[in-house]
Amino acid sequence: MPPATPRHIAIIMDGNGRWAEARGLRRIRGHEAGAESVRAIAEECARLGVEQLTLYAFSEENWRRPRLETEFLMQLLKRFIAAERETLLRNQMRFSAIGRLDRLPSGVRKELQKTIRLTANNPKTNLCLALSYGGRAEIADAARRIAERVASGELKPEQVTEATVAAHLYQPEMPEPDLVIRTAGEMRLSNFLLWQVSYAEFYVTDTLWPDFRAEHLKAAIEDFGRRERRFGGLVTRPAVG
Ligand code: FPP
Repeated sequence: MPPATPRHIAIIMDGNGRWAEARGLRRIRGHEAGAESVRAIAEECARLGVEQLTLYAFSEENWRRPRLETEFLMQLLKRFIAAERETLLRNQMRFSAIGRLDRLPSGVRKELQKTIRLTANNPKTNLCLALSYGGRAEIADAARRIAERVASGELKPEQVTEATVAAHLYQPEMPEPDLVIRTAGEMRLSNFLLWQVSYAEFYVTDTLWPDFRAEHLKAAIEDFGRRERRFGGLVTRPAVG
């Protein structure tokens, strides 16, 4: 892996609707085209040796969209997860999901569980889908579970630290994202991985998600390679003179 390759890339996949509307198509056709980008980018990350790729596929807020669109997205997800199991296995990739997964239709949950189980021991990129996901909901869910442990006497309030919160997130073992990419131009985080992105580098491109391919990912990684990451400290430079 080249030194500047991020360990964890997280992507806010935006612009499916605009991509379809620009072609006079229905919005759902944009989601279908977006699924092609998911496959291409996941395979590229495995090739590059990226440890984790987290994709914001469906937010808690997305449930507010028209029922036909959410139903279509759920069907698409189910089909995609089943169809791409082969791609994941061929590329030795792992698969995981974060979010309030109990809100997903049972057919989607079944495909998720099967793919998670079959890819659990694979060594390459962990493709993690954020589904029915909200960053605030994740922190609230962690707080509730910590409160339960405090109430049962298992944990003292003074023992609750940042590490305790991190340990109660949906996927505690994930490396924090180094690079967050957002497609389709908007400069917003939209409630994505709020706890984990504290020191991530943010990259926004006007490219719409269905058009996003390996060359766009390469441009984002090159830009990331030019950033000076300080994590709140100072860059140490050799003393002059
Ligand atoms: C944002 O575009 C995208 C979504 C709400 C869903 C993301 C879904 C996919 C990429 C396809 C399915 C995913 C997988 C993993 C198979 P938008 O509809 O908000 O676009 P707009 O802002 O242009 O309207």
